[in-house]
Amino acid sequence: MALTFQKVHPCFAAEVSPIDLRGVHDPATLAEIRAAMDEYAVLVFPSQPFTDAEQLAFAQRLDGELHTKTGARVLVKSRLSNEAVADISNLDEAGGIMKSADRRRMYSLGNRLWHTDASFQDPPGRYSMLSAKIVPSVGGDTEFADMRAAYDALDPEMKVRLEGLRVHHSIAHSRQTLGFEFSADEAEALKGAIHPLVRTLPRSNRRSLYVAAHASRIVDWPVPEGRLLLRDLIEHATQREFVYRHAWRVGDLVIWDNRATMHRATPFDDATHRRELHRVTTLDL
Ligand code: SIN
Repeated sequence: MALTFQKVHPCFAAEVSPIDLRGVHDPATLAEIRAAMDEYAVLVFPSQPFTDAEQLAFAQRLDGELHTKTGARVLVKSRLSNEAVADISNLDEAGGIMKSADRRRMYSLGNRLWHTDASFQDPPGRYSMLSAKIVPSVGGDTEFADMRAAYDALDPEMKVRLEGLRVHHSIAHSRQTLGFEFSADEAEALKGAIHPLVRTLPRSNRRSLYVAAHASRIVDWPVPEGRLLLRDLIEHATQREFVYRHAWRVGDLVIWDNRATMHRATPFDDATHRRELHRVTTLDL
């Protein structure tokens, strides 16, 4: 089926014409979606009433193996059906709103930092697919930054400086910057992974900055010097010209490429409003 893509930002991100992804099995349409991911890096599919099982099956059809080693699983068993479905919500097992001091809430506040999913694993995350079940009437949007456009805009001297650098990513690091504390066992289970700071994306051959809140240090550099450079790059990449803000509607499925983007949640009144989204991430094998 031929799809149409309506750009929603000058650099990247597009909304796709009506299609029910639950029924998409043919290789040609799946290939068209992958090609559009290479170009736009973020795709918005409205009106996708996925169950978790349907979302998992679609993610596998589109991109293969799933990421199951989430950071959250080290803290607590998920209330959802499968460890491959990340619970992006402020809800407890009974569907009630979590208490403000709930440790799971404190941990998930880390999603408000610019991040890439599963960069703390090897292999890291490739595509993430977030399905909106319940959205607050105000706030709780998700922002995406185009890390390819951010790389392109660097001056030539900086591009040379970044060549060959490697970065350690750790979800414990991003949470610790907010003051979240891990037990020794949790920290041991979340030791992190090392990835290149600049990645070349297969097929498009575009180069992309691979940094985010999980980036704890540049390998072989003094830690403060590395963190300052990482901070400067995140500031550069999150200038408004590189950022698309998605206002959720129930039923939206948004797919993004974690190699080409960073994202973050924006605040909402989580003491009185529910927000529930289910995320599935594939592995960048
Ligand atoms: C995430 O997928 O990392 C969470 C983003 C959000 O809550 O908006």
